[in-house]
Parts: sequence; C-alpha cells; structure tokens
Amino acid sequence: MSPNTPDSPPASPSSLDRQLAPLDARRSVPARQLDAPAPDAATLARLLRSASRVPDHGKRVPWRFITMRGDARHAVGDRLAALTASRDPQAGEGAIEKDRQRFSHAPLVVTVVARLEPDDKIPAQERLLTAGCVCFALLQAAQAAGFAGTWLTGWPAYDPTVHEWLGLAEHETVAGFIHLGTPGIDAPERDRPDPDALSTEWRAP
Ligand SMILES: Cc1cc2nc3c(=O)[nH]c(=O)nc-3n(C[C@H](O)[C@H](O)[C@H](O)COP(=O)(O)O)c2cc1C
Repeated sequence: MSPNTPDSPPASPSSLDRQLAPLDARRSVPARQLDAPAPDAATLARLLRSASRVPDHGKRVPWRFITMRGDARHAVGDRLAALTASRDPQAGEGAIEKDRQRFSHAPLVVTVVARLEPDDKIPAQERLLTAGCVCFALLQAAQAAGFAGTWLTGWPAYDPTVHEWLGLAEHETVAGFIHLGTPGIDAPERDRPDPDALSTEWRAP
C-alpha cells in the first residue's frame, strides 16, 4: 500500500476498496470452528511481532502474552469445571461442561494480559486500550497469515482464582483470550454498523 502524500490524487472508490479489502474481510471465526493446525511457535512469534505494533502512550508496553496449547487447555478447563461445581452446587451439567470446554475448542489460546501498574502519567484506561489494540492486531495478523481467531473473555477473564492459575501479578488483568486456529468454516458475514449513523461533524458554534 503506497502512503498518501499531500500531492497524491484522491483514491478512486474502487482502488480504495481494493486497498482496504484485507481490513474489510476481517471477521471472527467461532472457537468451535477453529481447527488444527494452529500457528506453530515460530509463526506465532512472528504474529506477535505484528500484534505488538500498537499505539502506546508513554511507551509503557502494558501487555504480555501467555500461550496455551495441547493438554494445558484441557487442564485449565477441568479446573474451571471444578471451580464452577464447587462455587455453585446448583450448577447444571451443561454449565459445567461449557466451562470444561472453554479452552479446548481452538488448538491455541493466547491470553493477552494487560499490565496496569500504578502510573502517575498515563491513565489505566489508555493502557487497557493499548492492550485491546494488541488483541485486535493479533486477530488481524492471524487472518493475514491464513489462520483465524476469536476474542473471548467470559467470567474466567475477570476471576481472581483464574488469574492466580495464570500467574497474573497484582496489577494485571486479562484483556482477552485470543483463540486461534485454522478456519473450519467460511464464517458468515454479520451485520456491520453503518458508520454514517455513528458520525457527526463538530463545528465551532
Ligand atoms: C473484549 C471482548 C470480549 C469478548 N468476549 C466474548 C465472549 O466472551 N463471548 C462471545 O461470544 N463473544 C465475545 N466477544 C465478541 C467476539 O470476539 C466477536 O467480536 C463477535 O463474535 C463478532 O464477530 P466479529 O469479530 O466477526 O465482528 C468479545 C469481544 C470483545 C471485544
């Protein structure tokens, strides 16, 4: 993609559409439809390099990654199921099994951890937004490389016990569990919001 310069003519709609096609094609594939193979270690390292090119006020680098593959996914699912059963004796078999399977569908789960230590200058909100950008950039990188993914959270993302299992420090939280694999379906498009309906132009009164 060539950079726009003040001298370059405005792109025609069709060339602009072509330029934006990879971004416009971005969509999630549900975790159940994420098959093996996942990106291997070297490929994932490369994807994470792209995903780490995010706006970052103050260069705080407020994120880190935890990868989970193979039996580790099932182990955390077993723990989630046990936790749900112990906390809620009324929990149905369906809810318990849902928790057991949470990390088992996709062959790879990358936890994007937001690091939100006390900071005098950069608000925590901005650092959390940066970690969110990493999640999104990882989805885009995976799709650009022929893989697919989905960004999930659910209660485990906010649970102190799960944080402990993952080894999160006091000021860390989960920005997202990015489930990654090879798309098992051509995911259907969903309705997208109309940006015109969301846009206004401010003018000085
Ligand atoms: C922070 C965050 C957390 C999400 N958590 C869940 C979740 O736990 N379960 C779920 O079904 N979708 C969740 N989603 C939505 C999906 O990731 C996805 O965006 C949605 O299915 C729409 O698909 P699209 O990415 O193709 O637009 C979450 C999205 C975000 C941004």
